[in-house]
Amino acid sequence: MKKILTIAVCLSVTLAVSAKTSVNIHADKGQQKINKEIYGQFAEHLGSCIYGGLWVGENSNIPNINGYRKDVFEALKNLSVPVLRWPGGCFADQYHWKDGIGPKEQRPSLRNNNWGGTMEDNSFGTHEFLNLCEMLGCEPYISGNVGSGSVQELSEWIEYMTCEEGTPMASLRKQNGRDKAWKVKYIGIGNEAWGCGGNMRPEYYSDIYRKYATYCHSYPYNRLYKIASGASDYDYDWTKILLDNIGFQANGYSLHYYTVTGWTGSKGSAIKFDNDQYYWTMGKCLEIEDVINKHSAMMDKKDPQKRIGLMVDEWGTWWDEEPGSIRGHLYQQNSMRDAMVASQTLDIFHRHADRVKMANIAQVVNVLQSMILTNDKGGMVLTPTYHVFEMYKGFQEATFLPLDMDGTATMTVKGDEHNAQRTFPLISASAAKKADGSIILAMTNVSLDKAEDIEFTFDSMNKIQQASGRILTCKNITDYNDFENPAKVIPTPFKGAKTSKNTVKVTLPAKSIVVLNIK
Ligand code: AHR
Repeated sequence: MKKILTIAVCLSVTLAVSAKTSVNIHADKGQQKINKEIYGQFAEHLGSCIYGGLWVGENSNIPNINGYRKDVFEALKNLSVPVLRWPGGCFADQYHWKDGIGPKEQRPSLRNNNWGGTMEDNSFGTHEFLNLCEMLGCEPYISGNVGSGSVQELSEWIEYMTCEEGTPMASLRKQNGRDKAWKVKYIGIGNEAWGCGGNMRPEYYSDIYRKYATYCHSYPYNRLYKIASGASDYDYDWTKILLDNIGFQANGYSLHYYTVTGWTGSKGSAIKFDNDQYYWTMGKCLEIEDVINKHSAMMDKKDPQKRIGLMVDEWGTWWDEEPGSIRGHLYQQNSMRDAMVASQTLDIFHRHADRVKMANIAQVVNVLQSMILTNDKGGMVLTPTYHVFEMYKGFQEATFLPLDMDGTATMTVKGDEHNAQRTFPLISASAAKKADGSIILAMTNVSLDKAEDIEFTFDSMNKIQQASGRILTCKNITDYNDFENPAKVIPTPFKGAKTSKNTVKVTLPAKSIVVLNIK
């Protein structure tokens, strides 16, 4: 939860028209690997993300695998989730891990003070989370309690999870049925220390970080990657002070950036919005690149070799809660507009893969810009954002290919207190070379009414034979999937790519996202 700011969403839109876009892809200049962790997810004890979303318990009527919702698990497996952050968010700084281990009937309940005062029975704890990560084949990212916990509590949690044997916590884990230590790489030392994680000043948090991090031990065969609680979006001072005081004692600094109209009053409906609001959203989401550039520039001064990662461990859209949903549960629908935010933000992360080592969209199920929506009758919906992550998964661990784009139309919209106006291109694209030598190429046309002719030229290639893939588009930009109509916005085969020698020509329909595999 962020500092208070309000903006007037009073909009004006100016369009600079262009004829045609040409994109030159430097297929021979790939150097930087796109860390798969950029496709990370975030699961907080918030609303029905954990309880009802990921976890229904073994005795539920909803089909489950040892308590995990089967349909949700299978959908996530299909996404190749690389890393999952848990248990918060703000919740992390009220979470006491020892309440979530041992026989379930003996675990104490807790009141989720950050999120609607909901009572939780602690049936989803450390074992349930880490076993889920193993089943998904993803890295766990544990967010430690710094706000209301203690150094000893966090230190023992790490010992419990990752120390093989011979210590009190390793014995306790074995007693609770897990013999082998888990692998846990990522550990967050607090969350939003400037806000819900303790309302600290950066100088004070820096010292707290240093103290906690000292006692987060890497046990044999488990090297921790320690992440400091970094800045909220435009707070460059926070980053500067942490760099001065923590420096290389952290492996990564987090950054949170939400596409949101402000923190007071209405944030707008997820599915009822007009064209001006849509274009405002595009401008706001793209501004994350400027924010990344500015934080990165500060990091470059201290760390020109880019050893410290910028971990965008919360990002995505934040709209009003759906009417009729429980207040404080942050349940929102997800339209094609959200898909546009996802594809363009992922393109930005690719461009900054040398510094952005991880990103975790908020959140995986039933909260904010989620992949999946569920109900308690066993219904499940894959959102347009899910389909973007699924279409883009070939970018994970591929080698980023730099590109130059020319001639694309730009749009100028009114901004907010951070920038009076924002100008952005209507086309976004990114490309990468996969391990098998093929190229994955993604393109987004945010225009609501104009298709764009795009000619892609690939340096050092002269025999392109195939460019096939899928398109995600819609009739109306407000279209979304729900339990009655779960397949309104889904990917379909895209037949509109023409290849010759070293070019691929595409007419990219208005409001569409296309991902091609090129050989
Ligand atoms: O993702 C929802 C909340 O947003 C998180 O708990 C918090 O870290 C942020 O303010």
